[in-house]
Amino acid sequence: MSNKRLYIQEVATRDGFQNEARFVDTEAKIELIDRLSACGYAKIEVTSFTSPKAIPALRDAEAVMHRIARREGVVYTVLVPNLRGAERALSCGVDEVNLVMSVSESHNRANLRMSREQSFAQLRDVIGVVKQTKVAINVSLSTAMGCPMEGDIEQAEVLDWMQRFADLGVHGVTLCDTTGMAYPSQVGALCAAARERFAALELTLHFHNTRGMALANTLAALQAGIDRFDASLGGLGGCPYAPGATGNVCTEELVHMLELDGYDTGVDLAAVLSASALLPQLIGHDVPSQLLKAGRRLDLHSMPCATADGLPEQRAFSQGA
Ligand code: COA
Ligand code: ZN
Repeated sequence: MSNKRLYIQEVATRDGFQNEARFVDTEAKIELIDRLSACGYAKIEVTSFTSPKAIPALRDAEAVMHRIARREGVVYTVLVPNLRGAERALSCGVDEVNLVMSVSESHNRANLRMSREQSFAQLRDVIGVVKQTKVAINVSLSTAMGCPMEGDIEQAEVLDWMQRFADLGVHGVTLCDTTGMAYPSQVGALCAAARERFAALELTLHFHNTRGMALANTLAALQAGIDRFDASLGGLGGCPYAPGATGNVCTEELVHMLELDGYDTGVDLAAVLSASALLPQLIGHDVPSQLLKAGRRLDLHSMPCATADGLPEQRAFSQGA
């Protein structure tokens, strides 16, 4: 059995909260992030420095970033769409900026209100500025495995965008399945090609569970040698500018599966489950996590309807026919 070290990156307070109708109070965000900091994640995507008109749910990014208690060993990253966002992020002393653009032209225009080339030109300027600091640079390529408006995305096109950013000296790239269109064989082929061509890049896979394939896609990525995954507490998540987008792969379900298979995720599953249990109260609705409802595989139950003599109670079985 493998004992391979994997790196889990929590995105609920960014990818999750950006999509929530109810504004999560700044104090509550800080409290949750501080709790997550103790769960063993490699990285936490705290918030995004986007236009407050585009993403009102994260309009308190500065306050959150300034006031969380940062724990040694955890990388605190933030999503940044443009130069203005990068300046705001740098003023908060982030460890990493996560720049974003889409591989598909339509999604880039819907999400960022500019063409891909305009995005690239802006992000090139951002990279120029950030490289003068010690802050790391990751680039998230949205819709890398399918676009809800354009359909299939050619693998070659994804690799070309990766090349353009690798040439600018970024530290990592995240391949995002923004609306859960990826399937395992596609993921395996893309990950193998990306790893072979960009061995020096820190590569992250970012799956959404829109069509129930996120865990299957994770296994395909693992087999292709990927060791770094974004995941979202409770399975929250979704892009407000991608039709039909829903939650990310659920952190507790991902960690549960990986631990059973003998991987070392670094993440404390019990602590993650207790944090996830707080979400419905925070956001005002139930969360997609099945593990939160079902419990871990070996969280055993007492016998249902046991009678004093230890036999199952007949009544329970005789009713419902
Ligand atoms: N932070 C704060 N404000 C910003 C900003 C940033 N990073 N970028 C732009 N703005 C403000 C501008 O100052 C301007 O404000 P004003 O109307 O008060 O003058 C307004 O937003 C519009 O600016 P403009 O440059 O015309 O941008 P836009 O309206 O074309 O929006 C983006 C472009 C990228 C800023 C915006 O679409 C955005 O933030 N998108 C985020 C998408 C996202 O996070 N999606 C989910 C994750 S994938
Ligand atoms: Zn996402």
